[in-house]
Amino acid sequence: MPDHFEILHKDLAGRIGRLSTPHGTVETPLLMPVVNPHLPLITPGELAEIGADMIITNSYIINQDPDLKIRAVERGLHELLGFKGPIMTDSGAFQLSVYGDIDVQPMEILDFQFAIKSDISVPLDIPTPPDVARERAESELHTTEERLQEAAAANRSALLAGPVQGSTYPDLRERAGKFARDLGFDVYPVGGVVPLMEAYRYRDLVDVVVAAKKGLGSGVPVHLFGAGHPMIFALAAAMGCDLFDSAAYALYARQDRYLTVRGTWKLAEMNYLPCSCPVCQAHTRQELVDSPHKTRDLARHNLYVSLQEIRLVKQSIREGSLWDLLETRCRSHPRMLDGLKRLCSQGKWLEGLDTASKSTFFYLSPESASRPEVIRHARRVDRICLQGNVLITDDPNADKAGYNHVLNFKPPFGPYPTELSETYPFNAEVPEDADNTAIDQAVKITKRLVRANPEARFTFRLKFCDLGERLKQS
Ligand code: GUN
Ligand code: ZN
Repeated sequence: MPDHFEILHKDLAGRIGRLSTPHGTVETPLLMPVVNPHLPLITPGELAEIGADMIITNSYIINQDPDLKIRAVERGLHELLGFKGPIMTDSGAFQLSVYGDIDVQPMEILDFQFAIKSDISVPLDIPTPPDVARERAESELHTTEERLQEAAAANRSALLAGPVQGSTYPDLRERAGKFARDLGFDVYPVGGVVPLMEAYRYRDLVDVVVAAKKGLGSGVPVHLFGAGHPMIFALAAAMGCDLFDSAAYALYARQDRYLTVRGTWKLAEMNYLPCSCPVCQAHTRQELVDSPHKTRDLARHNLYVSLQEIRLVKQSIREGSLWDLLETRCRSHPRMLDGLKRLCSQGKWLEGLDTASKSTFFYLSPESASRPEVIRHARRVDRICLQGNVLITDDPNADKAGYNHVLNFKPPFGPYPTELSETYPFNAEVPEDADNTAIDQAVKITKRLVRANPEARFTFRLKFCDLGERLKQS
């Protein structure tokens, strides 16, 4: 098949892309609301009005219902659901993971998806849960991979997804990503992660996704299966996930839960509706509680905030400020912060992908000291060649007489050539009081520079720290 995915803009491992399907081209990152073909809480037509460009539904549920099945085969999925844009179908693998057994053969459900004209079909993978014994993860992955081979060999006239499994074993995830990539699919979902997200295990989620991405390489579209909470979109997009599916908007609504980008509230415990979507404009909190359409209204709100967050993620990628959004969002929950820290520990991987020119670097929290720009400067600082007397200073008025070189000093970067001070990233906006993490990073980078230039004599004029002393200590 021709190339269905084009990357337009990048930031961190995230990107704005264009995905082409038989029912039109959509821009990513993209959120697909999940439509239950039996009882859609919000009709697909209304989902489109709210702003959904693409939806996802479950082909297994359609296949199991004789009436839906006949209509889907005769008239196609798009007419069945009443949606003109692209529709992705899942295979029932998730039912398999919840109920343990399903009543359909792998190629049967895949051929069914082809027959009803799904835009993106998914083979019947096995969603192995987290923390299982390695033997089980390996043997289930083996079965998934046999099915992927069979699926990839079939003729197709639409897009085909190649799910990546492997439980919580990063090496299996990476291998599974490479295996799927070598077979050549059109979209690559990372599966089996719903239990991680439900348990707030964002650190493990980062390990799993980054490992899968390493195996898949950076050029292909990646779907994070079951990621529907808006709190997580920035983190997932920063790791290079392009597609999300949300059952959350409806599931949470059914439990009277109100989604925000900072977490979930129980409607009963709220006093205000801190949102300006049409639902929250039209109701007070009490009116929403008393509404005869409460579940539907809540679902609509949940979807509005989710789609809004996707647009914010896109704007942030476009202007190169995704890291800033990430730092903000990951402060919504301590476990999200754990996830961000884990991503920071993948600094080398991120730095290799992150080549965008950006909006001004803002130092917002200790995690800013692990941004790709800082890692890159640390890696390259030993290329600066110095001889004679060198002054490193953060004082623009320092007396420069008698020095062969003068370098500016700004945590977390440490020293950098004065002539780059107006240039990205050294024109960073940083706090007047640097925190310890920024200073430690700056000291580390300074040490690299000093070590690379043993002939030079360094003098430090700094207000932030006694750098000369700290360098002597080590
Ligand atoms: N929905 C949520 N997780 C999964 C998964 O791992 N595989 C499939 N096919 N669907 C899912
Ligand atoms: Zn709202």
